Amino acid sequence: MTLEAEKLMNVPTIPAPATALPPASSEVHVRNMDQYKALYEQSINDPETFFGEQSKALSWDRDFDKVLYHVGNNFSDSPAWFVGGKLNASYNCVDRWALQTPNKVAIIYEGDDAEKGYSITYSELLVRVCQMAQLLQSKGVKVGDVVTIYLPMTPEAVISMLAVARIGAIHSCIFAGFSPGAIKDRVIDSNSHVVITCDKGYRATKVIQTKKIVDEALESCPDVKTVVVINRDPSSPFPQNPERDVIYPDAAASFKSYCAPVPVDSEHPLFLLYTSGSTGKPKGMQHCTAGYLLGALLTTRHIFGVTPDDTLFTSGDIGWITGHTYAVYGPLANGATTVIFESTPVYPTPTRYWDIVDRHKVTQFYTAPTALRLLRQYGHEIIDKYDLSSLRALGSVGEPIAEEIWEWYFNYVGRGRCTVCDTYWLTESGSHLVSSIPGVTPMKPGSAGLPFFGIKPAIVDPVSGHEITERPAEGVFAISQPWPSMARSIFNDYARYQDTYLKPYPGFFFTGDGASIDSEGYIFIGGRMDDVVNVSGHRLSTAEVESSVLDATMDGESMMTECAVVGVDDEITGQALVVFAVCEPWLKDDIASGKKIPQDISIETILIVRKEIGPFAAPRKVYLVDDLPKTRSGKILRRVLRKIVAGEEKQLGELSTLSDPSVVPALIDAVKNQK
Ligand code: WTA
Repeated sequence: MTLEAEKLMNVPTIPAPATALPPASSEVHVRNMDQYKALYEQSINDPETFFGEQSKALSWDRDFDKVLYHVGNNFSDSPAWFVGGKLNASYNCVDRWALQTPNKVAIIYEGDDAEKGYSITYSELLVRVCQMAQLLQSKGVKVGDVVTIYLPMTPEAVISMLAVARIGAIHSCIFAGFSPGAIKDRVIDSNSHVVITCDKGYRATKVIQTKKIVDEALESCPDVKTVVVINRDPSSPFPQNPERDVIYPDAAASFKSYCAPVPVDSEHPLFLLYTSGSTGKPKGMQHCTAGYLLGALLTTRHIFGVTPDDTLFTSGDIGWITGHTYAVYGPLANGATTVIFESTPVYPTPTRYWDIVDRHKVTQFYTAPTALRLLRQYGHEIIDKYDLSSLRALGSVGEPIAEEIWEWYFNYVGRGRCTVCDTYWLTESGSHLVSSIPGVTPMKPGSAGLPFFGIKPAIVDPVSGHEITERPAEGVFAISQPWPSMARSIFNDYARYQDTYLKPYPGFFFTGDGASIDSEGYIFIGGRMDDVVNVSGHRLSTAEVESSVLDATMDGESMMTECAVVGVDDEITGQALVVFAVCEPWLKDDIASGKKIPQDISIETILIVRKEIGPFAAPRKVYLVDDLPKTRSGKILRRVLRKIVAGEEKQLGELSTLSDPSVVPALIDAVKNQK
């Protein structure tokens, strides 16, 4: 075991604060550790009975014939859950509450301008979802078609997702920070013919020309025949294409306020969500209807303790999985209220989150350590004047939460009363894999806690591929049994799904992360073992950034012959990207003759990545170097680059595999000279 892992494991256990207990009246929540243990055992040893029982939390149009159908005992194939069942996700998230409690608030919208917020009740949500659904049908959208959604955090994003689900189509949300190049790739890969977007987005007073970005992307997507444009600011014009654009809400207003949901099979795809992996090509992770929805519902209910009386505020964007599961499907499937927040945590002041919690009496708050690190810099005194007593659980997601940030969150936001749910999961898992449960499982700062129902973790030896059963243990974090909300495929590429998740460690589902587990079964996530980096909670593949650098041109000519992108630690964003690039000979000549200045080339490269992928992917620094550290077989040793940027050139480790060790001092000099 490494020193780091040992250090983490000496963390004292903090009992789950009793005040964080969910209401005792609720039948559905786990109440104590013994009950958690009993339910957990059953979920692992007899998943059919356990999930068969839990599935009653959903409304079904046709009962299923079998809870779990899985060929073989291990992960040679992806599973099918609730086989033969039929249901509709929008019915489960909207109709059943609109029929019972029509005036209950479903969505609280908090705009960039704090004055411009408003609420939508479940009955209003039903009307809007139905009208949008009919609008899409009128444009030819059918069961199984993919509809792309490129929208900021607005109620219309939620309405669009649910409208697509209502008619049995498949939504593919693209994070609204992505640039035209990335949108184009995702629209083409998903074979999407319809895009839903808006005229403008707003972020800390900045106006984003969302429609313009989409128009640029669609220049290379001739198959897109319809663009539904949410017209958020009717007072100012935006670029329109009359043959293709349909303006919302005008075009939806002529439709009936109700249309029946289309029941689909349990395994019917609900959505695609593109995420980054080891290679440059993003993967369209494909989630199914019943298993995903049940995972979202159960984790929101059992981990966050959400009841229909609660208001959950998830700050994660709907362009990522956290927004899908915990801003949309989880809270709405439970009949709760969700806060949809379009701005930044520091606009107009760094108390924006606390102000929202106070005004709306938020019961569960869910954010990422990167936001907490930023907010902590402003001191805790500014939080103290807010009434945060409504809070019962505090969630954290996306990266490990460092002990000092955990303590700050626990003491100043939770005021020592709320459980910190350090939720570990990933796009592929659909819902939480590991977390503390408020009022039930004790917490260990630094550990994500214990596995959720149905999640059987395995620590695998990366070399032998065998499970390490003794405790404590450290290795690859894998899962050894299917769970309902796991992604079923990569869109149109099941072979890549198998290669990425099922084949690296046969018999297990590979998460991509390393982890340790202590003698009590607490899980400590170590971080990605592949070339995925996490910048401000945004998952990026270094290969994707590398390919945009290699595609970069200047004066019509390619700029770089080769490059390597590495993730380095960053105080606020968690990780940041640093590029090492080797210029083409013509560019080297221009630099040598003084025709071009290296700094301009670095800036140009950063701008190209911003343009190709999105502003959130902008590298912190581009170093122009003569060569990269490579093995004799040509593999770039990124580890060496990471150490050099971190100033740890004394700890470069084994360098005998380098084909030319003299590149190392040259790289150290380049980094020093280009500070
Ligand atoms: C990382 C986000 C440590 C992990 C839901 C994972 C975490 C990747 C945690 C998935 C956590 C997520 N502690 N690391 N609590 N939660 N991660 O797909 O490396 O955007 O593989 O899903 O984030 O990122 P993704």
